[in-house]
Amino acid sequence: MDNKTLIRWLNWFYALEMSQVDLYLNQARNSSDYYIANALLRIAEIEAGHAEILNKFLLKLGTKPAKIDSLISRITGNIPGQITPYLGTVNFFLYNYTLETIAIRDYKYLLRSLDQKKELQAELAYLLIGNLIDEDLHRLWFKERRDALL
Ligand SMILES: [Fe+2]
Ligand SMILES: [Fe+2]
Repeated sequence: MDNKTLIRWLNWFYALEMSQVDLYLNQARNSSDYYIANALLRIAEIEAGHAEILNKFLLKLGTKPAKIDSLISRITGNIPGQITPYLGTVNFFLYNYTLETIAIRDYKYLLRSLDQKKELQAELAYLLIGNLIDEDLHRLWFKERRDALL
């Protein structure tokens, strides 16, 4: 994968991660359940860590995150953050589960596409697998919570 394509991918993940930070913080603020609110805060903190990893890698590639496209933040960030509490808890877990699934799918795709014989891409793969495993754990948690409510 050439650096230009890599940068485009890293920007996509950066936008996705930042949108999740926004979304989970909004949901935490709107949740009346102490445990769920704190779990969402904790997950938002982990997503912020993911975004920071991507930010650092973009800097390493001599660039920085592009301004977050308003479309993605509108889809996954502000608006759902305000709307999902009104959809009820089951739907908000389902929504988060879906977002985590998208993240997992795309992290897996990028991991498969990297040329790990190249030092830089091998280094990136190591960071991405960490993010991917966190998303996998988030997804399981959201799924478990949702199933418990059904
Ligand atoms: Fe993440
Ligand atoms: Fe996640």
